This record gives sequence, structure tokens and C-alpha cells, in this order.
Amino acid sequence: MAAGTTTLNAPVTARSTTPLVEMRNISISFGGIKAVDDVTVDLHPGEVVGLLGHNGAGKSTLIKILSGAYRADAGEIYVNGTRVDISSPRDAKRHGIETIYQTLALADNIDAAGNIFLGREMMTPYGTLDDASMESETRKVMARLNPHFRRFKEPVKALSGGQRQSVAIARAIYFNARVLIMDEPTAALGPAETQQVADLVLQLKKEGIGIFLISHDIHDVFDLADRVSVMKNGRLVGSAKVTDVTQDEVLGMIILGKCPPGAIPGPGAS
Ligand SMILES: Nc1ncnc2c1ncn2[C@@H]1O[C@H](COP(=O)(O)OP(=O)(O)O)[C@@H](O)[C@H]1O
Ligand SMILES: [Mg+2]
Repeated sequence: MAAGTTTLNAPVTARSTTPLVEMRNISISFGGIKAVDDVTVDLHPGEVVGLLGHNGAGKSTLIKILSGAYRADAGEIYVNGTRVDISSPRDAKRHGIETIYQTLALADNIDAAGNIFLGREMMTPYGTLDDASMESETRKVMARLNPHFRRFKEPVKALSGGQRQSVAIARAIYFNARVLIMDEPTAALGPAETQQVADLVLQLKKEGIGIFLISHDIHDVFDLADRVSVMKNGRLVGSAKVTDVTQDEVLGMIILGKCPPGAIPGPGAS
């Protein structure tokens, strides 16, 4: 239902917006092992949902289903309330879903503009690369994301981890991503760069982009997330607004699978 069309009798829920993305009852097995088992998560515009759980909990596998890298054995994906079929990364991108991988898949020897437009280059009417337009667009998108960024002319291998992260995100949002998946984005970064990523996330939120922030470490996500969903052994322990639970309670969800009163339990709650 679109915002503003709720009727008088509609139940009062916390949100009136349709989720940007909803994954419902998703399962996938590898050789008889259920890596993801009946997991349901959703994400609203401008919202950061922290997807938490120990290594091996199934977080990356779940989001690889959303990014089109894997196909679920069961379950459904909805984008803006409409059921969609995501069978490839191209399908995901078509639905505005972009993934920033931990490895920051960038082409090291080319500059920021080259990376942002890689495979989607702007051309002049004469059929040559329109470097001037690509650089000017790159300056615009980077000014939004990371106003301190100056190293437009250098190959990205010369950049810091945080700067590379900005380029990877600029690449995603330039092409109208509505949903950004960040899988362990700060795993390889120092404190200053981790702060830069936090600033980027807040900027993206302001633009109404929804972000799944995946981490095995609660400290990476608790301050940034609006909600958390916790997985354990492939199953959803529960989901909660960060204002309804304490960090210790979320740790209990991660470690023991114990769902506190402020959270909505999933099938994996003990
Ligand atoms: N391609 C694959 N083939 C076989 N097993 C896999 C594959 N991908 C993930 N798994 C298994 O699925 C489980 C969940 O892994 P993963 O999603 O990477 O967890 P997380 O991201 O939470 O650390 C693990 O037991 C892992 O070994
Ligand atoms: Mg992972």
C-alpha cells in the first residue's frame, strides 16, 4: 500500500511504508546442509538493518540470494511490495539492489571515474569515451558521499581502504541503487576508516537508501543500525529495533539464540 492510502480500519503498525525489500521464508541447502533455513527479513527506505550472527550463521549466503549470486531453494523476494525473480546479479541490479563486497571488487589500475563507469561508460556522439563527462559526474557523486575526496586522478590502488569503499559505493549509487548490501564492510579497515564508512552509511540513509549491514561483530553495527536481525545456524533468532533491546540482549541472541522481550522471535529462537 502506498503511503497516505491507509484506511481508518487498517491496523496501526510502526510503519506506513512498503518495504524496499522483503525476503520471506528463504531456505537454501548445500549438500544436505541447510545454510539458510526459513529466514524472513525486510528493509525500509532510509533504514539500516544490521544482519548479525557468528561466522557460519548464514548471513552471506542469505544476502547472496538477494544479490543474485545464489538461487534460493524456497522462499520469496518482494521489491516495493511486488514479488520478483532474482536469478542473476543483473536481475538484482535491475531492481536497484547493489552489493559492496568485502574485497571491494575494483579495478586497481584505473581511477575513481574509470571504476564507477566500468562496463557502463559514457560515450561522446562520436563513439569515443566521454572522459570529461565521466569525471564531472564522478566529482558530483563523490561530493555527495565523501566531500573530502580529492584523489580523482590516481589509480584506486593508491587509495586508502576507506577511500576505496567510497568509490565502490559511488559506483553502486550512481546507477540508482535503492538497496545497498554491505557484507562485513569494515573487516579490513582501521578505526579512522571505519568511521568514514559510518559517515557514508549515514549519508546514504539521508538519501532514502536502505542498507543491509552484515557483521559478525555487534559493535560494528549497533550504533548505525535502526534494527537488527540475528541469525544462528542458518535460522533467524529474531529481529528488533535497536531502541527496544540492549547490546547484551543482542549478544544473547547471537551466542545463545535467546530472544529478549523487545524482539520479535524467529523460527531459530531457542
Ligand atoms: N557455496 C557453498 N557451498 C557449500 N557450503 C557453503 C557455501 N556457502 C556457504 N556454505 C556454508 O553455509 C554456512 C553459512 O555460511 P555463510 O553464509 O558464509 O555464513 P556467514 O556469512 O554468516 O559467516 C556455512 O556452514 C558455510 O560453510
Ligand atoms: Mg559472511
